[in-house]
Amino acid sequence: MRRFLTIASAVTLTMALASPAVAGDAKKGQGVYMNFCAPCHATGAAGAPKVGDKAAWAAHLKHGEKHMVERAIKGFQGEKGFMPPRGGNSALSDAEVANAVAYMISQSK
Ligand code: HEC
Repeated sequence: MRRFLTIASAVTLTMALASPAVAGDAKKGQGVYMNFCAPCHATGAAGAPKVGDKAAWAAHLKHGEKHMVERAIKGFQGEKGFMPPRGGNSALSDAEVANAVAYMISQSK
């Protein structure tokens, strides 16, 4: 039993360390959003869900914030258009992308 618990906590710890920061800070994300995400997400250019458009974001939000952050980091081809990895700026950290996503969500629900 004790041995099982040790293995279980090691696995939990490894998962925690391996997964990117998913709980973004909306306040810190505003600047990143303005600089790197707004070109598409403020206007809906290229098929991007427009920030503030609740209906457009509802379809994305139902998958959860963690999933959205992962897709914003890795990029994806959706039905409406292509979301480039990290909004096209590979210098952004996982945390910066997560913060920008949190900001966009906070303005869109
Ligand atoms: C070149 C245009 C462009 C830029 C710049 C851009 N996006 Fe996007 N983004 C898109 C498009 C297009 C989609 C929607 C694709 C679809 O649903 O078909 C999208 C979707 C998303 C989604 C929804 C993900 C999901 O799981 O449904 C998030 C979150 C997101 N972008 C975050 C960001 C962040 C954060 C930035 C800035 C770091 C950014 N985007 C910059 C075009 C862009």
